[in-house]
Amino acid sequence: MFDLALFLLGLDGVCWEIGPGTKAKLPLMKTQYYTATSLDGFIATEDDSLEWLFPLGALGESSYPEFIAEVGALAMGSTTYEWMMRNADQVIAEVGSPWPYTQPAWIFTSRELPAIEGADIRFVKGDVCDVHAEMRAAAGEKNIWVVGGGDLAGQFYDAGLLDELILQIGSVTLGKGKQLFPRRVLSPKLKLVSVRQMGATMAEMRYEVVKGEADNAVAQE
Ligand SMILES: NC(=O)c1ccc[n+]([C@@H]2O[C@H](COP(=O)([O-])OP(=O)(O)OC[C@H]3O[C@@H](n4cnc5c(N)ncnc54)[C@H](OP(=O)(O)O)[C@@H]3O)[C@@H](O)[C@H]2O)c1
Repeated sequence: MFDLALFLLGLDGVCWEIGPGTKAKLPLMKTQYYTATSLDGFIATEDDSLEWLFPLGALGESSYPEFIAEVGALAMGSTTYEWMMRNADQVIAEVGSPWPYTQPAWIFTSRELPAIEGADIRFVKGDVCDVHAEMRAAAGEKNIWVVGGGDLAGQFYDAGLLDELILQIGSVTLGKGKQLFPRRVLSPKLKLVSVRQMGATMAEMRYEVVKGEADNAVAQE
């Protein structure tokens, strides 16, 4: 039987990428910057502490379980990776191993860092474009998660590769710290697509990065 809903979903579920002289049909996977932030736009304190975040809510109450189920590859900067190494005991207590992800991960660093036992990771540096192509091949039809930090997410944005920002905004201010997204992005580049309240201390805002829209005049200066 002809299923109109499935047919429409099928049409929506692919995108067309036009390269020099080529046209390829690709699954509609997204590259997402999913992170928690303070109200004033910091994802960690200046000394990389996340202690402010933990009292704000349980993981199970958040969108994380449904989000991570759709992730096929992830990227993070070395500071975020080193946080995991420093806090291995805490990670083990929560998930039973020092590395909480089953997906392949790309760690951006210009240094030689030790690998975490059991982690499916590779160390990379430089331009995010080539790395993104590798991640995309590994992720298949699933999404790519840019874990952080903010500048790494900005590098994906600069390259036109970031599709969504999914922000859990905690009801705290830090005053200073590691920036959520150290870029100037002006309307109409970010389109708010959903708002979700998570208890009394968190709100999740999901933004789509509108492709093909130039930032307004101030951003172009
Ligand atoms: N609130 C949350 O949910 C959340 C989420 C994620 C992270 N965090 C925390 O936020 C903080 C983020 O720290 P951060 O802002 O310093 O960011 P980061 O992205 O974790 O680390 C930045 C470092 O990554 C390396 N790097 C970045 N891009 C690179 C590239 N293209 N090629 C080679 N190396 C590259 C550089 O270090 P080297 O070259 O010197 O190695 C750079 O200094 C951490 O404390 C983390 O734990 C919080």
